[in-house]
Amino acid sequence: MDGNGRWARKRFMPRGLGHKAGVDALVKVVQACADRDIGYLTVFAFSSENWKRPEEEVSGLMSLLLVALSKHLTKLKADGVRIRIAGDLSTVSEKVRNALLDAEANTVENHRLVLTVAFNYGGRWDIVQACRKAMAAGVSEADLDEATLSRHMAMAYAPDPDLFIRTGGEVRISNFLLWQAAYAEMVFSDCLWPDFDAVELDKAIANFARRERRFGDVGESGQGEGAIGSELPAAVPADGVQGGC
Ligand code: IPE
Ligand code: MG
Repeated sequence: MDGNGRWARKRFMPRGLGHKAGVDALVKVVQACADRDIGYLTVFAFSSENWKRPEEEVSGLMSLLLVALSKHLTKLKADGVRIRIAGDLSTVSEKVRNALLDAEANTVENHRLVLTVAFNYGGRWDIVQACRKAMAAGVSEADLDEATLSRHMAMAYAPDPDLFIRTGGEVRISNFLLWQAAYAEMVFSDCLWPDFDAVELDKAIANFARRERRFGDVGESGQGEGAIGSELPAAVPADGVQGGC
């Protein structure tokens, strides 16, 4: 969910108001995903690298999280959303940790949409913590394989993502879901996150639907690597980069 700061700057507003608008966009996108029968939505809310930001912005983001949960939790719960947290909660304040754990506990009965909030999350952190957990569980070197490690990843409860969307114009992963996104289809949108809405989501889904997923195989056409893209209509963006909104 990138681009909150630039969205605010364009309007001569403080960055915090961009983050606030970002929460409003998220609430709408969660609803849009539920309406489209999407089972899992995972959002990168705060990365393990975001602590590098000015103290004022970090504490603003923490307060915003608390406000957003108290404002939206009841409705999310009523809408069948199950909230789950992925990330290292051992180094966040007790207040924030408790609010996140409460949101999880409060929505545990829900099944319509699993909304994973990646908070103090990093893809590398996730791989390391999974290795540690596997070691602590006594998994031997000989028994450690991809399936075993997957079972110890922070999002072991979810299937690997099909579609990975980054807003805000940057074309990089920035340490999100490194393990899980191995075969995810990537869509990079120039749209700044507070402007992202159901229309943009549908554009990304349409983009996704035009991809041929081969998972390393030769695919339906059976023509092998030389034919990559040749079966796609010319209108499909070859690099997954979507324009603005
Ligand atoms: C997303 O927006 C922020 C978080 C999820 C913490 P940014 O704050 O990175 O916005 P830009 O990149 O400065 O526009
Ligand atoms: Mg950014």
